[in-house]
Amino acid sequence: MDGASGGVGVAGGAVQGPGRPWVSLKSCEAALARQAVPRRLFKYWLQRYCLFSRYDEGVQMDSEGWYSATPEVVAAHQARACRGDLIVDAFTGVGGNAIQFAAAGASVLAFDLSPSRIELARRNAEVYGVAGRIDFICGDFFSAGRGVRADVVFLSPPWGGPSYAGMECVDVGNGRGPLAEMVGRAVRAARKMTDGRGTVVLFLPKNTNLIGLRGMAGHREDVRVEVIVVNGAVKALTVYLEPRR
Ligand SMILES: C[S@@+](CC[C@H](N)C(=O)[O-])C[C@H]1O[C@@H](n2cnc3c(N)ncnc32)[C@H](O)[C@@H]1O
Repeated sequence: MDGASGGVGVAGGAVQGPGRPWVSLKSCEAALARQAVPRRLFKYWLQRYCLFSRYDEGVQMDSEGWYSATPEVVAAHQARACRGDLIVDAFTGVGGNAIQFAAAGASVLAFDLSPSRIELARRNAEVYGVAGRIDFICGDFFSAGRGVRADVVFLSPPWGGPSYAGMECVDVGNGRGPLAEMVGRAVRAARKMTDGRGTVVLFLPKNTNLIGLRGMAGHREDVRVEVIVVNGAVKALTVYLEPRR
């Protein structure tokens, strides 16, 4: 794998907000009920400031958003690593990545299939004061994105829910299974969007088979892999497919 890089430690990501070193279970339960967050999402809610540091200013989530939003410190790191005036966020969810791309100064085209979730992403971008830099498109990235040209395409596809973590190894390079199939299609669509001249970025489970990733690189393309470590724990991989200069 050309240009494979080592681990990237991303520091920070307070579990409780500033000035809140601990909270009682009773007050957590009251807050969950007030914010209509189901009990099963408690462990994600405990990490709310890690996902969005401005959570208390009106950030809104749905169930999928709770377990799939990219932690803010990771999204900010990815945004710094993605240089480009126009970035496509193909699977925007509740906006964790799109917000950080816009905050870093890029214009963003954000796609999501879910009308309600893209609305949450728009509101969350307003909380961060960056909604003006993001065009939110409710639709299928594969069809709605046809004809779009961009400098960078960021792909954060659904991993299939929290069950991925129990799998020994996730293979995205072989085209078999829903994630591999979607990743293969998305990478092909993304390459068209960048005319083969820009970077295609994949955000993948930490147990992705690295050897299998080698096959994803096209001719004249390097694959760079960052291991995302937050507070000492491996969280995910960011894979950069970059044209060789
Ligand atoms: C893992 S989440 C993205 C999380 C996002 N990076 C964040 O930080 O909030 C994946 C999203 O992709 C959306 N999605 C799935 N298939 C799609 C498609 N074909 N086109 C656009 N969005 C799609 C889902 O609705 C879901 O919101």
